[in-house]
Amino acid sequence: MKNLFEFAEACLHSANIDEKLALTHQAWQALESGELSLISNHPVLPIARVIFPDKPILLAPRNMPKRKLGAPEGVSAFFHAIAHVEFVAIYLAWDIAYRFRGMPAQFYQDWLQIADEEAQHFELIGTHLQAMQMNYGNLPAHSGLWDHAKDTADDLLARLAMVPRCMEARGLDVTPAIISKFKQLGDDASVALLNRILTDEVGHVERGSYWFKFVCEQQGFEAETKYRQLIGQYYQGGKPKGPFNREMRLIAGFSKAELDWLETQEPAL
Ligand SMILES: [Fe+2]
Ligand SMILES: [Fe+2]
Repeated sequence: MKNLFEFAEACLHSANIDEKLALTHQAWQALESGELSLISNHPVLPIARVIFPDKPILLAPRNMPKRKLGAPEGVSAFFHAIAHVEFVAIYLAWDIAYRFRGMPAQFYQDWLQIADEEAQHFELIGTHLQAMQMNYGNLPAHSGLWDHAKDTADDLLARLAMVPRCMEARGLDVTPAIISKFKQLGDDASVALLNRILTDEVGHVERGSYWFKFVCEQQGFEAETKYRQLIGQYYQGGKPKGPFNREMRLIAGFSKAELDWLETQEPAL
């Protein structure tokens, strides 16, 4: 019988991209056919041991070249950046399953399904990039995406608040406007790809909200207060900036009160 935590360990500690994608799909198929054990029989390795490929080279956002969607190089640079977001998202989904033990089986099933969807997103973007004579790794990429994972490696609630309920939720805010831009440019392939990803991402944020509330209840915290407190503690600058996509965030498990709080000038707790 294959084991979820062995797959997770292999995916997080290998620089080989193709192997990581193949293992992620294999793990999901094993789960779907009832051949995946969720019994955790391995110690958890520290997050500093997680390995990324040599390429892309990682740069601080301020050092990244500027891009405009009006020019072909701008479009390929944009999708290269999105490919990197999806690539790190594969790690993030594996890491939350790997690092936080003792949760119900559904928790691990959810994050494995998300890892598999992130791998699909990465592959779809890879194909899209190839049509533009671009490969993942050809350009530099944003260095900060893994920071939230490192910051929250021993706190599941903080991880859920910062990754699905902050980083991924940001995608719901900004993607619709980018889709409109590609519509204006008549780029139907990009529109279809981004719509597909957006639909899946609503589900990822929803799972983040679900498990955030679940763990709050388990630990005796009031979820909305705890969310504000964790954002205040972990989010640099105190609070994410809007505008927020209220409609999609509500579907993804944000409450009206949380959205009102995000939109006000009121500082974090
Ligand atoms: Fe994704
Ligand atoms: Fe996602």
